[in-house]
Amino acid sequence: MRILVTGTAGFIGSHVAHQLLDRGDEVIGVDNVNDYYDVSLKEARLARLTARDGFTEVREDIADREKMAETFREFAPARVVHLAAQAGVRYSIENPHAYVDANLVGFINILEGCRHNGVEHLVYASSSSVYGGNETMPFSVHDNVDHPLSLYAASKKANELMAHTYSHLYRLPTTGLRFFTVYGPWGRPDMALFIFTKRILEGEPIDVFNHGHHKRDFTYIDDIVEGVVRTLDNVATPNPEWTGVTPDSGTSNAPYRLYNIGSNNPVELSRFIEVLEECLGRKAEKNYLPMQPGDVPATYADVQDLIDDVGYRPETPVETGIKRFVDWYRNFYGV
Ligand SMILES: NC(=O)c1ccc[n+]([C@@H]2O[C@H](COP(=O)([O-])OP(=O)(O)OC[C@H]3O[C@@H](n4cnc5c(N)ncnc54)[C@H](O)[C@@H]3O)[C@@H](O)[C@H]2O)c1
Repeated sequence: MRILVTGTAGFIGSHVAHQLLDRGDEVIGVDNVNDYYDVSLKEARLARLTARDGFTEVREDIADREKMAETFREFAPARVVHLAAQAGVRYSIENPHAYVDANLVGFINILEGCRHNGVEHLVYASSSSVYGGNETMPFSVHDNVDHPLSLYAASKKANELMAHTYSHLYRLPTTGLRFFTVYGPWGRPDMALFIFTKRILEGEPIDVFNHGHHKRDFTYIDDIVEGVVRTLDNVATPNPEWTGVTPDSGTSNAPYRLYNIGSNNPVELSRFIEVLEECLGRKAEKNYLPMQPGDVPATYADVQDLIDDVGYRPETPVETGIKRFVDWYRNFYGV
């Protein structure tokens, strides 16, 4: 199958592209390789992809309406995995416009490309951050999520709403995946595991927000990739039981689905750091700090729908996942 994947210079997108190529799909990879974080890491991820048969790189901004329309016309992909976005909760406090450009303007360009080119299924990245002020655990896609705490979260929730209108109006099958704190080899330099590893190895102190009491449903990259690919193969369909009298948020009478992908096993930040210290064979010097604006104290994913519909539950324990990250980091940076 010919699959257009956006965000292929990114952490999750590069892994998804490799998995699709491994099974014989053709991948059109769209990314603008922006400098939100270290461009050389993005180029290194891309270099491993462009060296493979079946991968075509398209370097462009998804917010560029004409170019995106042209890319869809030229490659006519059967299915689309949309992972390009301006990510990061904290950055959205200082840089709100970046989220509107990449996550809202970019997203409408993806929807329009799918609509006008007969795409069979659009799978796109949402985020656990949409749960915002919700406190009922585990978080369920059937709960209402109308209280985002950051513009990043609001942009992801907006994507789900925009997708629904296209599923309704044009019968475009769409599936939104709410990712829960993804980590692993080739991970993001703006995320805790990467920052902690770098600083500990440099003998620098680490900032531990919320005094280490945060709980996160940390999800290992291979589990995420497996979930993305299985979901891509499982084209969204209408839920025959859906009713507007008691509207279920996770499904619809249109071909529209939402799933959580999390490990269903929240781990406290302090434990996560302890495992990292064991893997590095060094103790961290810790600056304990209060919670940051826009952050939530805990995330915990109900993944029953994912198990029921695609037969898959993420289950790599942090002890295994962190070790693999550290092995990659030491090897890649030669430390
Ligand atoms: N990593 C996580 O823990 C996590 C959690 C929840 C949701 N997500 C979502 O998953 C997706 C992938 O995240 P990731 O961790 O791989 O992030 P990433 O930043 O590593 O990858 C995103 C890629 O998109 C590209 N990009 C950004 N804006 C673009 C634009 N306007 N045009 C073209 N390319 C653009 C970037 O250059 C980058 O390579 C994102 O949508 C993110 O919001 C990630």
